[in-house]
Amino acid sequence: LGGSRLAFAQAARPQSAGAAGPHRVIIDTDPGVDDAFALLLAMRSPELKIEGITPVAGNVPLELTLPNALRMVEIANRPDIPVAVGARAPLMRRLVTATYAHGENGLGGAVFPEPKLKPIAESAAVFIRRIVRKYPGEVTVITLGPQTNLATALASDPELAGMIKGVTMMGGSLSGGNVTPAAEFNVYVDPEASRMVFQSGIPVTMVGLDVTRKTALTDAHVKILETAGTAVSLAAAKIARNDIDLNRRQGNSSGPNMHDSLALASFLDPSLLTWKDYYVDVETQGELTAGETLGYRPSESGLRGSAPTLAGTKTSVMLRDKFTPNAKVAVDVNSARFFDLLIGRLAGKA
Ligand code: RIB
Ligand code: CA
Repeated sequence: LGGSRLAFAQAARPQSAGAAGPHRVIIDTDPGVDDAFALLLAMRSPELKIEGITPVAGNVPLELTLPNALRMVEIANRPDIPVAVGARAPLMRRLVTATYAHGENGLGGAVFPEPKLKPIAESAAVFIRRIVRKYPGEVTVITLGPQTNLATALASDPELAGMIKGVTMMGGSLSGGNVTPAAEFNVYVDPEASRMVFQSGIPVTMVGLDVTRKTALTDAHVKILETAGTAVSLAAAKIARNDIDLNRRQGNSSGPNMHDSLALASFLDPSLLTWKDYYVDVETQGELTAGETLGYRPSESGLRGSAPTLAGTKTSVMLRDKFTPNAKVAVDVNSARFFDLLIGRLAGKA
């Protein structure tokens, strides 16, 4: 895997759709209000060849994220995109959901008809493995929820990591969490899965709370979507209206952050963000801090672990080798340009 990591270290910019296209992606998601926006944006982005969508349990249970994903595919009129059912629970923990933020149905409470579309027979992990092996070196996995499906695929096939072009993830934070002071929701739900991804050698592009906190949806954005009057824009407006109202009932004056849409948009146009190389690792043992993503920069100490306990036999992981980043982390964002892209494409004519 050193090869792919070395190649990444030399990469000028994070994984992106770039100039040539279309670019093959698999979108792993737990819709989810901001996931729904990200899915609609992706399905209205000609740069992407969406090989498939893989729902996972997260914001709400799989019984809801699966039909919500199918609903978005139907609304975008993209029945050409296969949907493969993912995990209903994290690798080693009980599922913690975020219905407080996404409503009981995961779409802010906005009600849509039951989807007619059905998922394919393959599980998400089997689908990810098959598509990556079909197009080695060409597929970017864009994860917008807990990374259980991707980790399961990696665990099933030791060669798979070396065949994945990159992972673009909404997740993590170098500036404190949103579920606990330490952890961002996606990594909080399945820290073991995220640790596997960061340690896999696959080039990771991390779009965390550091930047997604600056992407609150406003009433003005919703009005543009309502005025556009297309199936996609009206569905997005309906979800947003409901979720903004939910936010307000909970005393939040600002609208929902478009976390996942920013991660998707960063793949379409990395210049929306400012990037820094980090070695990122994930805390999985901390009783208070499991799910924390720690970003290491070149430092004189080279210490990565805690001080050794008196009872402990091994000392903390001392790093004598040179600083080798495993992730490009977004550290700033041009929010105005991001919303121009997001709202512009969702309001665009078919
Ligand atoms: O912390 C934000 C992330 O958690 C987003 O992906 C949102 O959809 C929730 O899953
Ligand atoms: Ca999500």
